[in-house]
Amino acid sequence: METSPLAGRLTGRFVAGQTLEQELEVCRRLNQQGILVTVDHLGEKVTSLEEARSSRDAYLDTLSRIAQQKLEASVSVKLSQFGLGLSEEVCRQSAQCLVSRASEVGGLVEFDMESHETVDSNLAIVTGLHERFGRVRSVIQAYLYRSAGDIAMLCRNRVPVRLCKGAYQEPPAVAFPRKADVNENYKRLSEVLLEQGVYPALATHDPEMIDHALAFVERKGIPKEGFEFQMLYGIRRDLQDRLIAGGYRLRLYVPYGGAWYPYFMRRLAERPANLLFLARNLLRR
Ligand code: FDA
Repeated sequence: METSPLAGRLTGRFVAGQTLEQELEVCRRLNQQGILVTVDHLGEKVTSLEEARSSRDAYLDTLSRIAQQKLEASVSVKLSQFGLGLSEEVCRQSAQCLVSRASEVGGLVEFDMESHETVDSNLAIVTGLHERFGRVRSVIQAYLYRSAGDIAMLCRNRVPVRLCKGAYQEPPAVAFPRKADVNENYKRLSEVLLEQGVYPALATHDPEMIDHALAFVERKGIPKEGFEFQMLYGIRRDLQDRLIAGGYRLRLYVPYGGAWYPYFMRRLAERPANLLFLARNLLRR
C-alpha cells in the first residue's frame, strides 16, 4: 500500500507528501495563513535500532531545516519510532539528541503519546528532558483514568501539555469505555490545564470541547496568547477557519513520509465517513 502509485491520491488530504520538501512547502503555506505547524515524520514501532537511528536523523534534519527557513513549526515524535520497544536507553539518548538540537536552534519537540503500556516511560523521558533543556511538550490522553494525576505532576513541573482524547484501542481496565465519560474528562482536564498549565495545547476537532474551552477562558479572562488549539491537517477545515478568524492560535499536525498506513488507518477508524472521501478519490480520474 505504502509504495503504491495510488498513495498520493488516497492520502493527499491528510498527509503533506512523501518528502521533507513537500512538508516544508505546506508549512510555509500554512504559516502564511497565520497557522502554526507541528511536523510528524510518519513511522512508528521500528523493528531495528538501525531504523530508529535513521528516524532520529530525519528529525534532526527537519529541526535544522525549520530553523533555517524560519518556519513557525515544532516537530512531533513517537518514542516507538526511536526504538522505545527495543531499548529504552537508546530511545532516551536519541530523544535527548533531538531536544538538545531543538535548544540550539530555538525549536520545540512534542512527544506524542502512544498505547497505555508506554505512558510511564514516555513521561519519565519527557520530564527528564524538560528539566535539562525545556523545549518539549508532553501529550496526555483524556480517555485514560490516570490522566488527572499525570496532568497534576506535569503542571507542578511546569511542563507544557497537549491534551487529546486518545486514539488507541484501550481496555476498560485503563480507559473510559464510554465516549461521554472521555468528553467529560477532556473538559475537566482542559480547565485544569488552562488555569494551572504552561501554555497548554487543546488538540481536538470536537466543537463541544472547543466551545467549552472558549467559554472557560472567557469566564476566567485567560488571554488568547495563553494557549493554542491543535488539529490534524485536513480535518474540520471549517472549524480551523473559525478559530483563525476569531484570533485564536491554531497549530496543525502535518505528517509526511512513506510510512503513512497506520496514521491513515487511525484517521479512517475515527470517522468511518472518511471512507466515502476515500472512495471518491479512488474513483476520481
Ligand atoms: P472526536 O473523535 O469526538 O471527533 C469530533 C469531531 O471531529 C467529529 O465529529 C468529526 O467531525 C471530526 N473528526 C474527528 N476525527 C476525524 C477524522 N479522522 N476525520 C474527519 N473528521 C474527524 N492521540 C493520541 O493517542 N496520541 C497523540 O499523541 C495524539 N496527538 C494528536 C495531536 C493532534 C494535533 C490532534 C488533533 C489529535 C491527536 N491525537 C492523538 C488524536 C486524538 O486522540 C483523537 O483520536 C482525534 O483527535 C479525534 O478526537 P477529537 O477530539 O477530534 O474528537
